[in-house]
Amino acid sequence: MSADHEIENLLHEDRHFAPDSEFARQAIAQPALYQQAQADRLSFWANQAKELHWHKPFTQVLDWTNPPFARWFHDGEINISYNCLDRHVEAGNGDRVALYFEGEPGDSREVTYAELTRQVKKAANVLTELGVKAGDRVAIYMPMIPEAIVAMQAVARIGAVHSVIFGGFSAESLSTRIEDAQAKLVITADGGYRKGKASALKPAVDEALSGGKCASVKNVLVVKRTNQDVAWVEGRDIDWSLALGEASDEHVAQPFHAEHPLFILYTSGTTGKPKGILHTTGGYLTQAAYTHKNVFDLHAEQDVYWCTADIGWITGHSYVAYGPLANGASQVIYEGTPETPDWGRWWSIVQKYGVSILYTAPTAIRSFMKMGSQFPNQYNLSTIRVLGSVGEPINPEAWMWYRKVIGGGHAPIVDTWWQTETGAIMISPLPGITTLKPGSAQLPLPGIELKILDDDGNVLGNGHAGLLTITEPWPSMLRGIWGDPERFQDTYWSKFDGIYFAGDGAKFDEDGDLWLLGRVDDVMNVSGHRLSTAEIESALVSHPFVAEAAVVGAKDETTGQAVVAFVILRQSQLESVGSDADVSKILRDHVTKEIGPIARPRTIMVVGELPKTRSGKIMRRLLRDVAEDRPVGDVTTLADTSVMDIISGKIAGGASD
Ligand code: PRX
Repeated sequence: MSADHEIENLLHEDRHFAPDSEFARQAIAQPALYQQAQADRLSFWANQAKELHWHKPFTQVLDWTNPPFARWFHDGEINISYNCLDRHVEAGNGDRVALYFEGEPGDSREVTYAELTRQVKKAANVLTELGVKAGDRVAIYMPMIPEAIVAMQAVARIGAVHSVIFGGFSAESLSTRIEDAQAKLVITADGGYRKGKASALKPAVDEALSGGKCASVKNVLVVKRTNQDVAWVEGRDIDWSLALGEASDEHVAQPFHAEHPLFILYTSGTTGKPKGILHTTGGYLTQAAYTHKNVFDLHAEQDVYWCTADIGWITGHSYVAYGPLANGASQVIYEGTPETPDWGRWWSIVQKYGVSILYTAPTAIRSFMKMGSQFPNQYNLSTIRVLGSVGEPINPEAWMWYRKVIGGGHAPIVDTWWQTETGAIMISPLPGITTLKPGSAQLPLPGIELKILDDDGNVLGNGHAGLLTITEPWPSMLRGIWGDPERFQDTYWSKFDGIYFAGDGAKFDEDGDLWLLGRVDDVMNVSGHRLSTAEIESALVSHPFVAEAAVVGAKDETTGQAVVAFVILRQSQLESVGSDADVSKILRDHVTKEIGPIARPRTIMVVGELPKTRSGKIMRRLLRDVAEDRPVGDVTTLADTSVMDIISGKIAGGASD
C-alpha cells in the first residue's frame, strides 16, 4: 500500500475524546448492547428485528446451511413500506414531518408521515395499474425530491424491486443497467436543479431507450420538476402528477416473505461490468433501522436528521429512504449542490430546520474546510449534536475541523465504515459510549464479527495491516449479484472459505481501534464514489484514438482519489483531427458520455508504452507513483525495465482539467 507511511503517522494519533457524561446518560445506545450481542448474537439480532412490525412473526433467525446464501428471518412476513409509513400514522404520529424538502432554487415543502403515506399509496396504485407486479424491476432515475422517496417506497410496497440509477450517470450507463435488470418501468423527472440551473434527466432516459434498446420497458413515469420542454412518447410516457391525481389513496400493504427481493443497486467492481448488488427485505430493514437509531443516537420526537447522500447510492437507500423512515425520523432532503448560491448553503439549511444530526462524506468536509470557516460561521449551528462520516477514510485534520467548526467543539463524530454490499453500517463508534479517536472507524458494531487476515488466512493481531473480513453473516448482507451467482461467490467468498472479504485493507492499532487503509483491489474511491479502473479503461479504449489505456486512482487533497489515465494513442487515427486537437479533452468528454461526469479523468497522460510484467499485466503501482509525483518504486518485475524512465520523462504530455 503506497500510503503506508501516512497511515503510520495516522496511527500515532493520540488525541482522544471521551463521551460527555450527560450525552452518555441520555444516549440510545448503552454499553449493555455489546454484552447482549456477545452473549447471544442471533437472539440479539432477533430482538432488533422485533422492533419492526411483522405481519407474520419469524421462528428462525438465520439459515446458514447453504453459505454464502444466507436467509434471515425467512419464515417471517413483512411489508417494508408499512413499517416506514402506515405504522407511524396508526401510532398517532401522522402529523410528524417526515421530509423537510429544500429545493435548490429555495422552494421548500414539508411532508408529514400522513401525507407521505397517502402519496405512496397513490403511487402504489398507479404502479399496479401499469401492470407492475411483485418481483418486477423498476428503474428510478431522479433528482433528490420527495417524489424519489415516494417512488422507492411505492415500488417496495407492492413487492416490486427497484434499481435506482444515480442521476449523474450517462444514458449509456442507464441503458446497460436497465437491460441487465430487465426493468419494466422507468420512473424519472424532466430534470432537477443543480448549480443554479435546471438540468435535464428525461433526455437521457429517451436516449437509453432509443433504437430498440431496453425493450423490457413498457412505460416511463415522469415527474415534472423543472417544467422544461421534454420529448414525449405517446402511449409510453405518463405524467406522474396526473396519474397520482386520479389514483385512489386507499391501499392495503400486503406482507412479503422476509427474503423477498427489495432492490438492486449497481456498483463498480474490478471488471468492466458493474455488479447489481441484491438486497432483500426483513434483514435489510432490521439492520438499517438498528444502526440508524443507535449510531446516530436518534431521538425521533426531537431530532432533525440530515443525510446529504443522493438516493443513487447505498447511503441514500439505507440512511434516507429506509432507516430514518422505519424509525419515524424527521429528515431534511436537499436537491442541489453545496456551493449554490454560495458555500454557506448547507449551513443555512442546518439553521433553517434546526438540524441536529448531520451525516456526510469526508470529501464534502474537506471542500468546506478549503473554502474557509467564514461560511459556516455565519449561521447558527448550535442545534447540531451528532456528526457522521461515510464513504472514505476521514483524515484527522478534517475530523478536527468538522468537530470544531460544525460540531461546536463537542458533537461526537461517528466514522462509519460499510459498503453497498453490507447494506448498513458495520464499523463505527457509538456516541455516548466510545472514546473517539480522529481518523479511526474504531469498532465493529454489536452483532458484527470481523477479523483482519493475512493473505493465507492467518488472523493478524494489533499493529499488523491485512485484509478486512467479516466472519459471521449479518442481516443486511447482500444476497447475491443480480443474474450472476458465480460472480457473487468468486468476488466475495472465494479468497477465504465461508468468510466475506470486503476488498479493503485494515489494521487494529495498539489500543484495538480499527483503521481502514483503502482498497486493496482495482477499485478507486473518488469523492466517496466507487469507480472501477477497468470500467474507465474500457470506456477509453472504445474511442478510436486509443490503442491502450491504464487507469489509476491518484491521491487528491479534496476528492480522496482522482482518476488519472495513461493512454497510448493510435497515431493513424489522430491524423484525421489535426495536430492542434485537444486530445485530452476529447477523451475526457468521451468517458463522461460513456459512464458519466463522476468518472471523467482529472488527468490524461499520453505515453508511448505501459509498464507490464512479463505475463502482460499492467503494473498500476508504478503508474500511481508517477501520478502522485513520487520516485518510481521497484521495477525489477517489468518486462522492459526502461519503460518507466521513458514514461516519467514524457509526462510533459499530460493535461488536466
Ligand atoms: O473502501 C471502503 C470505502 O468505501 C467502500 C464502499 O463503497 P460503496 O459501496 O460505494 O459504499 C460507500 C458508502 C457506504 C469501502 O469498501 N469506505 C466506506 N466507508 C468508509 C470507507 N473507507 C474508510 N472509512 C469509511 N468510513
